[in-house]
Formats: sequence, C-alpha cells, structure tokens
Amino acid sequence: MKALVLAGGTGSRLWPITHTAAKQLIPVANKPVLFYGIEALVMAGITEIGVVVGDTAQEIQAALGDGARFGARVTYLRQDRPLGLAHAVRVARDWLGDEDFVMYLGDNFVVGGIAGVVQRFRTTRCGTRLLVTKVPDPSAFGVAEVTPEGRVVRLEEKPARPRSDLAVVGVYLFTSAVHRAVAAIEPSARGELEITDAIQWLIDSGHDVVAETIDGYWKDTGDVADMLEVNQRVLADLEPAVRGAVDSASVLLGPVRIEPGAEIVRSRIVGPAVIGAHTTVRDSRIGPATSVAEGCAVIESDVEFSIVLRDARITGAGRIEGSLIGRAVQVTGAARTPQAHRLVLGDHSRIQLAS
Ligand code: DAU
Repeated sequence: MKALVLAGGTGSRLWPITHTAAKQLIPVANKPVLFYGIEALVMAGITEIGVVVGDTAQEIQAALGDGARFGARVTYLRQDRPLGLAHAVRVARDWLGDEDFVMYLGDNFVVGGIAGVVQRFRTTRCGTRLLVTKVPDPSAFGVAEVTPEGRVVRLEEKPARPRSDLAVVGVYLFTSAVHRAVAAIEPSARGELEITDAIQWLIDSGHDVVAETIDGYWKDTGDVADMLEVNQRVLADLEPAVRGAVDSASVLLGPVRIEPGAEIVRSRIVGPAVIGAHTTVRDSRIGPATSVAEGCAVIESDVEFSIVLRDARITGAGRIEGSLIGRAVQVTGAARTPQAHRLVLGDHSRIQLAS
C-alpha cells in the first residue's frame, strides 16, 4: 500500500506567511504540520510515499529530503497548478499504479494517528473508506451523508446548505477504482477537480464507500486561528525538557521545553511552551500555548498563545497574543505612544493597532 500526500496548493488563507513559505511547513510545537502526517503514515506501516508538490516544491523537498529520516521513501510528483485534489490523483496515476493507497492532505492534523483505519481498510478492502467527524460549520468542508451502518450515500463540497454535520477529514483510503472516477469528472464551479465529486461518481457507479467517525482530535490547519488551536493542542502533551541555559532570575512554570543553545535571562516562561534552539528570551514573559522557533530573540516583551517562526525579533513590543509571526519578522516597540506608526508589511498582512 502506498500513500499520496498533498503538499501543493496556494495557502491563500494564511497569507502573507504563505507568500514565501509552504503552508504545510508552518510549525506546530516547532515541527512542521506536514511531518506529523508523514509520521502518522509511517506508524501505520506505509513507507512508500508520493508527495504532490506545486510552487513550493523546493522548500518541501528541502524539508522532507528522500524521507529516510522518517523511515520512508519519498517520491516527488509535480503538479503544475493547484487544479484540485482529484487532479493531484491524476498527476500521481503512473506512480500509484494499481496499488491501494491513502491520500493524506498535508495541511491536516489528526491526533492519534491513522493506524487503526488503515488496518481496517487492509482487512476489509471494502472499496473506499473515508474519515468523517462532526463539526459546527460543515459548509467549510466536504460534507457526507452517511447511513447508520456507515455507508456514504452522498457527498457535497462546501455546500451552502449542508445536509449533515459530518465533515470529510483529509484522509482517504482508495483502491485503484478511484482512477476511473478522477478521469470521469469535470471541474466544479470553483474550477477544481474535486475529490468529493470523484467519490460521488464511485457511489453512483455502485462502488462501496464507507465512512468511519474519527475518535480523536482533527483539524484542517487552514487559517491562523486553526494553527494556533492545533499548536495549543499539541503543546498540551509536551514533554518538558531544559536543554538550553536558564539563569537563576528566570522562572519556568508548567510544561516547558527549552532547546539547545537557547538562553533565558530574567524571564518567565509559562507552559505549555517551547523555545527553539539558539533563541534568546530576555526580560520577557512567554506563554502559555506559545511556540518560539529557532534563532529568535524576544526582548522586553510578552508573547502569549502565539506561534513565532524562526529568526524573528520581538523587542520592547509590550503584550502580543493570538499571533502568527513569520520568519525573520521584526516587531519593535515605540518609545512613547507614537503620533504615527511606521510599518513595513508584506502583501495581505494583518495587524491591529491601538489608535
Ligand atoms: O481538510 C479537509 C477538507 O479538505 C475536506 O473536507 C474537503 O472535502 C476537501 O476538498 C479539502 O478542502 P480544502 O479546501 O481544505 O482543501 P485545500 O485546498 O486546503 O487543499 C488541501 C491540501 O491539498 C493542502 O495541503 C493543499 C493541497 N493541494 C490542494 C489543491 C487544491 C494540492 O496539493 N493540490 C491542489 O490542487
């Protein structure tokens, strides 16, 4: 059995971070979202992994390499334009051959892994197996209508008026029958070849499609609020460790991980929180629910419920919360309440200013 991991797309809801970086590589507890998916596949016994890449191919390849560090073998499959999830399956047709496969959306986060569902698919080989979960806002997802016995009778992509509250999770188990389906469908109103349409085609052609409800936590890390929530969730299970230097004037409270080369001076770190390698925190307060990546500096600032990407510098900034701060960003406090703000912001940046 193979796996097809989708790591292309545009990530427009995470602009401006994703102008320059792949959304699947935004770190959660200082580890890219995509790595959690690859690890889940390897844990389920799948090591032959095809990764669909688009404009951010170079960055994804630099992060995953040949897959050996995960105990996997990674093959890159180029999708020239993000024309839809079913289009990605078309792109991977030759590499997949006639093998069964798991399709895993690279921005999805499934706590508890997928070993169980893969095992059930392997033993029953009932056709197509989907994971679904109840959500409060089904119209943001693929929505499944499922019988009490678990048969999927109808699927719709982001319907304005959903017929159920069951969202389709981004982990799909397919046999080679799906190739006929993705070849048969036409682009949707939004111009994409939808995997939901391909699965509906399978249902209409008499194939068995079953759904099981996911037991653990699931999140599509589509926007900043989702990223912060996933980060908080993952940090909750953090193994505390102090590998960097913490001076005697600093306090670590609750589960805190300090990576090698990090330096904490006269500061308070409230867990769960992780401070990346070679990051300096001085006269500051960090956490809870905060990840600061490697090579950052946080000086005379408070950062709470946030993700800070590598090489960022936050100085005299007062209190920052609920924020996603990009790579090498500089946030500086003004000496007094300024009459004017000085800003250098990338396209699609979002900031909130006290007027
Ligand atoms: O997260 C679950 C949802 O994922 C499902 O409920 C929906 O039915 C399904 O269509 C999908 O919806 P999204 O709108 O969230 O998909 P998104 O465009 O975010 O793409 C998911 C992943 O696939 C993401 O890592 C980018 C990648 N991708 C996307 C497209 C459209 C590709 O690699 N190629 C593509 O052409």
